[in-house]
Amino acid sequence: KDKVILDVDTGIDDAIGIILAVKSQKFDILGITTVNGNVSLDTATSNTCKILDFLGVDDIPVIKGASNPILRNPFFEHRIHGADGLGGALKNAPIKNQISDGFAPDFIINSILSFPGEVTLILTGPLTNLALAVKKCPQITKHVKEVIFMGGVVKGVGNVTPTAEFNTYVDPEAAKIVLHAGFQTLIQVGLDITRKALLTKEHIELLHDKRLAQYISESTSDYQQKYFARYGVHACAMHDPLAVGIAIQRNLATMVKHYVDVETKSELCDGQLVCDFQNRLNKQANLHVCLEIEVETFFNLFVRILNS
Ligand code: BDR
Ligand code: CA
Repeated sequence: KDKVILDVDTGIDDAIGIILAVKSQKFDILGITTVNGNVSLDTATSNTCKILDFLGVDDIPVIKGASNPILRNPFFEHRIHGADGLGGALKNAPIKNQISDGFAPDFIINSILSFPGEVTLILTGPLTNLALAVKKCPQITKHVKEVIFMGGVVKGVGNVTPTAEFNTYVDPEAAKIVLHAGFQTLIQVGLDITRKALLTKEHIELLHDKRLAQYISESTSDYQQKYFARYGVHACAMHDPLAVGIAIQRNLATMVKHYVDVETKSELCDGQLVCDFQNRLNKQANLHVCLEIEVETFFNLFVRILNS
């Protein structure tokens, strides 16, 4: 099994990503680290504990990380994820505390250095924890196996501002540190493909575990309505589960390596990824950018794992 750390800002789709990762049985999940993002650090952390408890899992440590972006103020996404971050699902679930001591960036560093070349990071929130880890211990970039993050958009439009995706918008300084850290394999799963991974009622109906189906249906129901209001489709995007899916099965996505930077100094465009498709800057490629995705294969995998 591949050793992984999930780094999450547990909102609706992060939670489904966690479920997919746990149920896939593909990973030895060393820990789940939490970060400020969709919701506050504390809410992201308690949502993560709720989901693990829902899955009956009590042997994965949850480690808290950054409560703020590197330089900026938090910017929550309650419009999409609801006041509690899970769209109102598991509202009354008791929070079984499985929070471990420690700080997420240190946990990331120690795990990578303990298992050099073996640890994959899957990040589905702002990149603050990883950026802090890189700052503190730059050599982790040489010892991590792979880094896969959900964030940014390179060809399409943003989902917070006209040009920026939420995770890179919330902490562009962190994204900049990560992009320029010198990772061997840094994979971006951005809106260009995640917007195509649309979960519908029909997918949920295929799930055998009715408790799980009920949870996903309840958690995504408002999110689907928001999606309908904006895009006119009865569905919602599985941004974060797709990053997990690509970690499970790499050939779901077609990726190309390019030089990519992020805007941090523009009132209008902060958080926008700029991909040098034509190598005009003549810089070394730093990011595997996912441009196409096998949507049907992803949902077959998704349903198969959730039914296992
Ligand atoms: C990303 O932002 C969050 O709202 C989602 O959890 C996902 O990580 C999509 O832009
Ligand atoms: Ca997220």
